[in-house]
Amino acid sequence: MINMKSIALIGFMGSGKTTIGQILGKELTYPVIDVDEQIEKKTNMTIKKIFETKGENWFREKEGEELNKWVDQNVIVSTGGGIITKEQNRNQLKEQFNTIWLRTSFEEIMKRLAGEQDTRPLWRKPVEERRQLFLDRESLYKQVAHYIIWTDGRSQDEIAQEIINLL
Ligand code: S3P
Repeated sequence: MINMKSIALIGFMGSGKTTIGQILGKELTYPVIDVDEQIEKKTNMTIKKIFETKGENWFREKEGEELNKWVDQNVIVSTGGGIITKEQNRNQLKEQFNTIWLRTSFEEIMKRLAGEQDTRPLWRKPVEERRQLFLDRESLYKQVAHYIIWTDGRSQDEIAQEIINLL
């Protein structure tokens, strides 16, 4: 292991952060924290409900608070795709985590998220707006990632193994 920092998985919706986080947790025997799940548990609301009633900014604040808790804890943190929209979160990911970007092409994301507009409020948009969101986010993931792993056409076990070999 390079150092004692927690591992953060970042990437667009549908890039596999949650599932790969779980595989890594099992293999490395590290606790796995899913930021979305923690927020849902603590607020007793679904992400969809939070976006509808509290708004995106409120959700972003919660994401930041959650991320902050797991610095130097030796855990794997699966983040939500938009965590990098806040500068403070980007700084934290860059400086205080081993941050791994699960990079996936837009075409692949489109396939994986077909029919998931209901659980992912930010995906409920016309295709050109989805593509713009994707492109805007790419540069933010790039800013904070220590490692980039392409996920297109690869199994989740393969990806997890590649991450383990990196660490
Ligand atoms: C979001 C991604 C979602 C969830 C919320 C907002 C985003 O997480 O946090 O719907 O802004 O990209 P996943 O990346 O796990 O889908």
